[in-house]
Amino acid sequence: MSNPAHIKEKKIVVFASGSGTNAENIIKYFQKSPNASVVAVFSNKRSAKVLKRAHDLNVKALHFDRDALYNSYDVLHILNDINPDLIVLAGFMWMFPKDILKKFPNKIVNIHPALLPKYGGKGMYGMNVHKAIIQNKEKESGISIHYVNENYDEGEVIFQAKIEISEEDTPETLAQKIHKLEYKHFPEIIQELLQKKSQ
Ligand code: GAR
Repeated sequence: MSNPAHIKEKKIVVFASGSGTNAENIIKYFQKSPNASVVAVFSNKRSAKVLKRAHDLNVKALHFDRDALYNSYDVLHILNDINPDLIVLAGFMWMFPKDILKKFPNKIVNIHPALLPKYGGKGMYGMNVHKAIIQNKEKESGISIHYVNENYDEGEVIFQAKIEISEEDTPETLAQKIHKLEYKHFPEIIQELLQKKSQ
């Protein structure tokens, strides 16, 4: 029996810690998709703007604390109930726990605002990355979408895109350029990964 038209087959869950402009972009992209949708957004920060963005777009918005992620398995239990096809980290700043990685092998992806393996690892997130790149007078930067493993920013890279850095660029203008790249490519790569999984 086929699914009724209003039920989308593929479920995406997003984890984010801050503003959540990527999360919003991904939600909106899949609201236009016939076969996939963002079913929940999780944040470790109660005041994170991403939770409001999700709520305003009628997506379940959930806050959790360290205990729920690392000790009590509450987050794992909710994820088991949802049974997502893909877990997307979009500006999520905590290490993903081993139990969840084990439970969802090859189903967890992250976006990093630099060309990994450069400018990855602990402490390298958000504006810290752009500041370091400008300070080092790099000529280019970009984005990396990769599978998540037990080490920060070390999982297999799925996709990268580059931009040039001009002499006038500041960490702020670089962040804007990087966000633009992220908005263009991240939803498309998520879509491709979901398609591959159904083949
Ligand atoms: C994004 O640029 C993302 O690549 C970065 O945080 C930003 C979140 O922006 N992620 C990392 O630095 C992970 N190490 P957003 O909240 O506006 O989507």
